[in-house]
Order: sequence, then C-alpha cells, then structure tokens
Amino acid sequence: MATYVLAMTGASGAPYALRLLQVLHASGHNIHLLMSYAATRVLVEEVGLDFSADQIDVPQLLNYKARPVPNAAANPGWVKHHTLTNFSAPVASGSARSDGMIICPCSMGTLAAVAQGMSTNLIHRAADVHLKERRKLIVVPRETPLGRVHLENMLHLTDAGGIVLPAMPGFYHRPQSLDDLIDFLVNRICDHLGLDISLTSRWGGEG
Ligand SMILES: Cc1cc2nc3c(=O)[nH]c(=O)nc-3n(C[C@H](O)[C@H](O)[C@H](O)COP(=O)(O)O)c2cc1C
Repeated sequence: MATYVLAMTGASGAPYALRLLQVLHASGHNIHLLMSYAATRVLVEEVGLDFSADQIDVPQLLNYKARPVPNAAANPGWVKHHTLTNFSAPVASGSARSDGMIICPCSMGTLAAVAQGMSTNLIHRAADVHLKERRKLIVVPRETPLGRVHLENMLHLTDAGGIVLPAMPGFYHRPQSLDDLIDFLVNRICDHLGLDISLTSRWGGEG
C-alpha cells in the first residue's frame, strides 16, 4: 500500500479533502495529514468541525459524513497528523518515503509559496521536497476569478513538474447530489495518483 501526504489549506473546498482522506484511508493507504491554520477556519465554516490547528481529531475527519468506498481494503491505512512548525516530521525530508502529495484545497497563498520555493511551513517544505525528488505533487487550487499572479504561479508549478488539478467538477456524469460532484473531483485526483478507484461513472460508460 502507498503512503501519501495530504495537505489542507485555507481555500474553499474542505469537503473534497475530507472525502479524499476517507477514500485513501479506506483503500488501505497511509496518510501524513497536514493542515494550515486557515484550513481549520474553513473547516468550521464549511463543515462545522472546530479544531485547533495543533490538535486535529483525525477520527472525526474520517467519520464526517462517511460514505461507502467501492472495493475498500480489508485493513484501512493509518493517518498521522503533523503540525506545520514540525520540521522534524518525516515529510520534511526527501529521505522519507512518499508516493505523492496532494494539496487539497490549495489556497492562492500556498500556491504562491510552493511555486516560488518558499518553505516557511511544513506544507510548503513537503511540496518542495516532492518537486526536488521528482515525486508526484498534485495541487487543487480554488479561487475565482483568477488574477495574473495566480495564473503565473500555476504555470511556474506546472513547469516545475507539479500537476495543477483545479477544483472544477464536470457535469457530464449527471450528478444528482453534491456528493456526486465531490466524488467526480476526488476520482480525478485518485486517477492522477494512479489508483484503480471508481467513485463515479466515466465517460464512455466504464464504471
Ligand atoms: C471561509 C474562507 C474561505 C476562503 N476561501 C479561499 C479560496 O477559495 N481561495 C483562496 O485562495 N483563499 C481563500 N481564503 C483565504 C485564505 O484562507 C487565506 O489567504 C490564508 O492566508 C491562506 O493560508 P494558507 O495557505 O496557509 O492556508 C478563504 C478564507 C476563509 C476564511
């Protein structure tokens, strides 16, 4: 089973991250969880979960509106939360194993820091490590409209080897609910991690 870094930052879209966390965990994968202070504020606003950024209640995140995951593993993975000042955490070093990192949702502030190599917190540093080690880094930015600085930072990140996968769900699977829209995006992230997970139907009738 794989080990991933999942970072939540203070952009709108916490339900995407919670579903992704649940899907990866239920599929047997291990997760280093990072959460910015702003992400905890967004969590309160969007899903009503109120944590200090230093003390995240992982079981509550895993149980939040938990839904079935197709082909779930017999044994779920582990989830370890690290505070953003803990540069001794494994994810701060390229010598620690990781099969990829996802920043979901990704604020324009974190996007800028990662695109410009400013490793001022553990999320920025872990992303920098993934880029320098040529590992998979998927950022899920959310802002609208996008200004020139945002667009330039996305281009920088793409040029550096990152994957910019915006929180832009499609509608061609005919979503009946918000859960369907969330699953569309989470499935695209899982696809880019190379995981064989189908949460929604696919174009062409598969799944
Ligand atoms: C409820 C809420 C929603 C927000 N939505 C966004 C957003 O969609 N995109 C964004 O770039 N910033 C958004 N922000 C602002 C960021 O949280 C803020 O710029 C913060 O400094 C980002 O810090 P971080 O990157 O360390 O998480 C939002 C803030 C709040 C409180």
